[in-house]
Amino acid sequence: MKRILITGGAGFIGSHVIRTFINRHADYEIYNLDKLTYAGNLENLRDIENNPNYFFIKGDIADDKFINQLFADYKFDGVVHLAAETHVDRSILSPMDFVKTNLLGTFVLINAFKNCWKDNFDGKLFYHVSTDEVYGSLSMHDKKFVETTAYDPRSPYSAAKAGSDHLVRSYFYTFKVPVIVSNCSNNYGPNQFPEKLIPLIINNIRNNKSLPIYGKGENVRDWLYVGDHADAIETIFHNGTAGQTYNIGGDNEMRNIDIVTLICDLVDQKLNREIGTARKLITYVKDRPGHDLRYAIDFSKLKNALGWTPKTNFKDGISQTIDWYLNNEVWMNNVISGDYQKYYELQYSNQNY
Ligand code: NAD
Ligand code: DAU
Repeated sequence: MKRILITGGAGFIGSHVIRTFINRHADYEIYNLDKLTYAGNLENLRDIENNPNYFFIKGDIADDKFINQLFADYKFDGVVHLAAETHVDRSILSPMDFVKTNLLGTFVLINAFKNCWKDNFDGKLFYHVSTDEVYGSLSMHDKKFVETTAYDPRSPYSAAKAGSDHLVRSYFYTFKVPVIVSNCSNNYGPNQFPEKLIPLIINNIRNNKSLPIYGKGENVRDWLYVGDHADAIETIFHNGTAGQTYNIGGDNEMRNIDIVTLICDLVDQKLNREIGTARKLITYVKDRPGHDLRYAIDFSKLKNALGWTPKTNFKDGISQTIDWYLNNEVWMNNVISGDYQKYYELQYSNQNY
């Protein structure tokens, strides 16, 4: 039985990663460590919370004493580290939270992992989940990001993630800690906090609210279905090579305005109303400061080395995603109102860990 610590498991991608690991590895004990910030929601894991191999621990990855005690007590064989502050706009308003969690928190975790196993890292792995935003911004004509593209982060979010990637890799060279880093493009799918573009647009259409498009809506992102990201992480965790970095992407570059109009028309269609109704809500607003123009990711290293490719085509994925949000109004309303947090605060306020 291996003990795997997954951080940020109550969040969007983390909850899908936990489900993937639980479903594929009956011989693992999976520990979900999460601070339950505004973005962490245990509702995302309702279907597996009673699995005998799943355990939840509430805590902060930046709390050095707590994290070192946790490693001393549980001796985790592997770590899949997703916990982070993740929203670029929030990082512009409140950068300190991003430095604390993304940079200091990652340092505390990898340092505790090193202290736990000292010189014997046989069968151990620290897997750090990162973003394509560390590579900066592409013009429309630039080639896609590859693993050797120089880092050029532009927001406090991506700068703190970039620093955490460097720290993790430094532990491989300096202390021989087996680490892997992956850098992924934009994810979409069920359970994403409705501050991010796709769930925000679906929810605003549902509530007949304006659909804010930053600038001219010409910025390009590469979109990957969250289940495919979880599948890539599980594949790399088991078959990747320590010391390596892998890019993960969806081969699906789209302009924001095209995504938004597509969602508008699909929602109109699903609600049996005239196509064009939702588009009327589109509103161009002030651009995000330092808004990266284009992300595009070349994942041929992962494809050639480990045989991974995305399975979900965007048309199917976005249609299923819209259905999920339209069918999960309670989830959406609880998340937006913050009501889901009151329940967890009571439930976990007396937990030792
Ligand atoms: P999310 O914001 O949905 O979830 C983050 C989770 O981390 C939450 O459950 C939150 O409670 C937890 N957390 C935050 N601070 C913590 C702390 N100090 N201690 C413990 N837990 C803490 O994030 P997400 O979109 O699921 O992203 C997960 C990871 O994947 C992040 O590292 C992010 O940088 C990376 N990533 C995200 C995307 C994307 O499109 N969302 C793409 C590439 C990489
Ligand atoms: O590329 C991976 C990254 O993708 C992750 O590392 C981040 O954690 C994740 O938040 C995401 O970052 P983005 O900034 O690309 O995602 P967001 O959903 O915030 O925005 C997507 C695009 O849509 C971006 O160009 C900004 C634009 N946008 C966003 C919002 C919230 C709008 O035009 N209007 C909006 O209201």
